[in-house]
Amino acid sequence: MKVFLIGFMGCGKSTKAKQLANRLDCSVIDLDAVIVAAQGKSIADYFAENGEAAFRTLESNTLKNYDYPETCVVATGGGLPCFFDNMEWMNANGRTFYLQMTPPQLVSRLHNREKRPLLKGMDDEQLLAFVELKLAERNAFYTQAQMVVNAFDLDVEELL
Ligand code: S3P
Repeated sequence: MKVFLIGFMGCGKSTKAKQLANRLDCSVIDLDAVIVAAQGKSIADYFAENGEAAFRTLESNTLKNYDYPETCVVATGGGLPCFFDNMEWMNANGRTFYLQMTPPQLVSRLHNREKRPLLKGMDDEQLLAFVELKLAERNAFYTQAQMVVNAFDLDVEELL
């Protein structure tokens, strides 16, 4: 079984994926890290050099063509469920969990903004406005997940 963790930047997908995989004694795959390793550059550099549209195509191809082990937990990039048929593909190929948080909770956790191209240079106020807007757009995709979980203070045992 493949478990896909989805949700906005800062909701804790990578950390929870590691904890869950540890607990299930299976592999963890971070799709952003797969892209960084394959491209030999950071996501921020990839965005800057090729633009967002190219990144979204690469991200979707990576999701669909990765050679997944039989059982694994997959952390996805925050925008991934919202492009092409990625959400439908994940629902058809595994179990999907939306790690949900409110905009203020997300802002309080988004410290390292420079490595995230969409958040570069924003102060707290701009970030809150951006998160509110983007989350409202993205919720239609995120809520297609098979399970919606309150991710704030989420214990991995609960997720399990
Ligand atoms: C993005 C989220 C990032 C990364 C890219 C775009 C987004 O992943 O894929 O910067 O559109 O929300 P994280 O959610 O792991 O930060």
